Amino acid sequence: MKRIESVREMQDLAGRLRREGRRIAFVPTMGYLHEGHLSLIDEARKAGDVVVVSVFVNPTQFGPGEDFDVYPRDISGDETKAAGRGADILFHPSAREMYPGEPLTRVHVEKITEVLCGARRRGHFSGVATVVTKLFNIVRPHAAVFGQKDAQQAAVIMTMVRDLNMDVEIRIVPTVREKDGLAMSSRNVRLSPEQRKHAVMLSKVLFGLRDTIRPDTAVEPLLKEAEATLSGLPGAELEYLEMRSFPGLEPVERFDRDAVIALAVRFGEVRLIDNILLKNDLDS
Ligand code: PAF
Repeated sequence: MKRIESVREMQDLAGRLRREGRRIAFVPTMGYLHEGHLSLIDEARKAGDVVVVSVFVNPTQFGPGEDFDVYPRDISGDETKAAGRGADILFHPSAREMYPGEPLTRVHVEKITEVLCGARRRGHFSGVATVVTKLFNIVRPHAAVFGQKDAQQAAVIMTMVRDLNMDVEIRIVPTVREKDGLAMSSRNVRLSPEQRKHAVMLSKVLFGLRDTIRPDTAVEPLLKEAEATLSGLPGAELEYLEMRSFPGLEPVERFDRDAVIALAVRFGEVRLIDNILLKNDLDS
């Protein structure tokens, strides 16, 4: 696998590959790769014939006091894992390479960035939309793969690509979970054994809701009950538990269209998110 650190070199190679008629499939990541990321690489191999993985912990999507400085990093481990899974190119720019001067341009997706995580992490999704746009301009992919684990991010990227006519096929891959159901996340390594034990309840609550909610179910009382369970977890602070349409992220009272139940819970310094998609098959 080839490692590239320069924007110019990546752009030149992408241009050459396109001229040769190769199809570029892209997996943008912030590194510390786990099985969830590797499943995105598997999907990318189906989506194209040259797979590019980027590893870049993007400073502009972290707010003041968030975990940018302590976000786990392991570039040589990432390189081995990505190569082992069949990636062809690892793009690993420095912050100076990505942001050589004060950035005066930002991409902002409205409305759907004002709810869920976006309401609590101001500026986060414009940091994501901007860096993903930059990465698309550098890697010039035909297809890009993202995880359902970050459901709101997936909705933001899909909306941005639609609104700005970006010529990139977006593929969303289901969340990969630990044996006990905890959604895989680079942040899980920062949980203490005690926190890790309680974190299993996040997915249990979501699976419980998925198995109970039917099109005629009143959702509010079920969410209240689930909120009480999560708030009662020792050391946990529930940020939100909400059901919204997907990908429009409108509030929904009943399961009458495709929806996502999403949550964010803090265990001390570690903020975990998870979600479950509910497909409404009534129209089919
Ligand atoms: O999901 C992530 O890891 C990041 O938000 C992304 C898409 C790589 C942008 O920095």
